[in-house]
Amino acid sequence: MKQVIRAFIAIEIPSATQRKLAEIIQTLKKDIPTTAVRWVNAENLHLTLKFLGDVSIANLSLVEEIISTEANQFQPFTMSIGELGAFPNPKRARVLWVHVVAPQELSLLQKAVESQLVHLGYNAEERPFTPHLTLGRVNRNVTTNDLNQIAQVLQQHPVGFIDVVQVNSINLYQSELKPGGPIYTCLYNAKLQSYSH
Ligand code: 2AM
Repeated sequence: MKQVIRAFIAIEIPSATQRKLAEIIQTLKKDIPTTAVRWVNAENLHLTLKFLGDVSIANLSLVEEIISTEANQFQPFTMSIGELGAFPNPKRARVLWVHVVAPQELSLLQKAVESQLVHLGYNAEERPFTPHLTLGRVNRNVTTNDLNQIAQVLQQHPVGFIDVVQVNSINLYQSELKPGGPIYTCLYNAKLQSYSH
């Protein structure tokens, strides 16, 4: 039996919001070459707080305890989703995403979870936390033409405000990499403070 799983901690995006994002992906797909970008399946759209990589099965309950304790320090909040972006920048896009605008609680929650998990031995994230929802990942072998096309499409598709999302909890997910794309399974749900449903 496998002793480790690939796991990450993220905020679930409601399916109504996922559908709105799927429509945006459909629009972008029309103008971006199929071979240039691997688009995220709508049901996989989430806000990553911490990517853990390999987690030993024996450590799962500790990870769950940490996220439960940290989530319990924060009140539920809402975040607003909209506007396209690209990492590292639109002219040399590697990741296409939409912005998430949230109160300070989100980055405090992310920091709290990150720092506790780093204590436990998981890798620290060097890049600053930029709350985002990844829509697609640009393939490594794209041509300069494709990159120019992507930059143009990002500029020509002013995607404004998309939705507001209520955040009541954070989740621990298992990620299984399959030829047809990753499969994410929620293993644990940690509720924010005062959320009792
Ligand atoms: P992303 O949303 O910024 O793309 C599940 O795989 C999530 O973990 C992805 O959505 C991705 O976040 C993040 N992730 C995947 N592989 C990663 C890696 N090697 N390093 C950091 N984050 C990763």
